[in-house]
Amino acid sequence: MSLRPAFGRQTSPPHSFLSPLPSPLPPPSPATEGGGCWSKQESEQDARAADAATPSSSSTAASDRFSARLLDGCRSVDRFRKLNRIDEGTYGVVYRARDSITGEVVALKQLKLSASKSEEGFPVSSLREVILLAKMDHPNVVCLKEVAVGNSPLHIFMVMEYAEHELKALLDKHSFAAAEVKCLMKQLLRGVSHLHSRWVIHRDLKTSNLLLTNKGVLKVADFGLSRHFGTPLRIYSKNVITMWYRAPELIMGQKQYTTDVDAWSVGCIFGEMFLRKPMFPGKSELHQLSLIYELVGVPTEETWPGHEALPNRKHFDMKLSLPRWRVVFPEAPEGMLTDMGLELMRSLLTCCPERRITAEGAEEDPYFWERPYALDPAMMPTFQDTNSTGRAEKRPAPRGGPAQTLLDNLAVARSRTALF
Ligand SMILES: Nc1ncnc2c1ncn2[C@@H]1O[C@H](COP(=O)(O)OP(=O)(O)OP(=O)(O)O)[C@@H](O)[C@H]1O
Ligand SMILES: [Mg+2]
Repeated sequence: MSLRPAFGRQTSPPHSFLSPLPSPLPPPSPATEGGGCWSKQESEQDARAADAATPSSSSTAASDRFSARLLDGCRSVDRFRKLNRIDEGTYGVVYRARDSITGEVVALKQLKLSASKSEEGFPVSSLREVILLAKMDHPNVVCLKEVAVGNSPLHIFMVMEYAEHELKALLDKHSFAAAEVKCLMKQLLRGVSHLHSRWVIHRDLKTSNLLLTNKGVLKVADFGLSRHFGTPLRIYSKNVITMWYRAPELIMGQKQYTTDVDAWSVGCIFGEMFLRKPMFPGKSELHQLSLIYELVGVPTEETWPGHEALPNRKHFDMKLSLPRWRVVFPEAPEGMLTDMGLELMRSLLTCCPERRITAEGAEEDPYFWERPYALDPAMMPTFQDTNSTGRAEKRPAPRGGPAQTLLDNLAVARSRTALF
């Protein structure tokens, strides 16, 4: 399935999907480690794994037809030469690879076909990711170029434009100046507004799903949890979004939600850019909510109409407290967040979803009109490619140092006044 017309005709014949897909399918083979292209050896291993699996013929017939339709016309992954493995996530293993025909470096996400399946037998998250990402067309959203197939039906790869860095990895080593944070935020808001304008909620915005190129361009990535939305709103799963970036209405059990949940995550990312640590690293839903309320203040019916009636309200009994923004984000010269910046953060981290600013609204926020202006992406600092080595080697354990966490700051605050 070629998603960009520029790729022209096939250079090698697509794999035939006439044989049934085994179920459950094994995770990507470790043989793909260590460089080289996706070879015969791997496909033999896959074939053995496929033989070992015992699919039921009725369940695999549908998946077979579906895969055949989906992957019909996909080019072979053999044209890519593997450079290194970048990272392994829940839904795939991501590699850096070179297109041996064009010489272009790309990212290949090998789908984990063992993830939970759709009725047709294809992993739901991968299906959504491919379909939704293919609809996007924006410089701040990672570009899915095509889907490629290996020598066996167990190997399916999303071929994406390559970005040299994951924002999370950069935050571990670099403290962004105010104009740099503004540049990143502007791009993040543009990317997220684009998704929302295409009726897509991302539902997993976090610093490890944001990429940065060495040209200073931020890209929203990882659409594994994304969903289409429309009117009237449907009821979606509330167990989405990594907990640290999860909006309070989801924790409170609100059944219908929309793009506001992404705006909350953007607020968390904004704070993380200054603190260089996650803002609300909760260990449980209760802990998550208490960290949020310690910063933004416990909501009331006045600040969040309908709050008292939310399904989980009875489980979370918090005593009233006042917001503590300036404890966590001190004013200049100690901190970098101006009053305007703080106002934008407050607007994004507003507990009542209806009162929360939208990504589109935030793009026009006066924060972006005040000095220092957002840096031009071309002027952003460049770093040695952090994705050219495996994730485990390049992500050191978070340390203390100049960046204080929300917890650090709150610990100081707590020693002055008991909160609850
Ligand atoms: N286009 C890309 N260019 C460079 N690196 C990428 C690219 N896409 C993904 N990565 C890297 O691979 C990692 C895992 O990718 P992704 O988040 O898409 O997979 P996932 O299985 O959904 O992961 P998780 O469950 O951990 O969120 C990312 O965090 C990022 O560091
Ligand atoms: Mg991810």
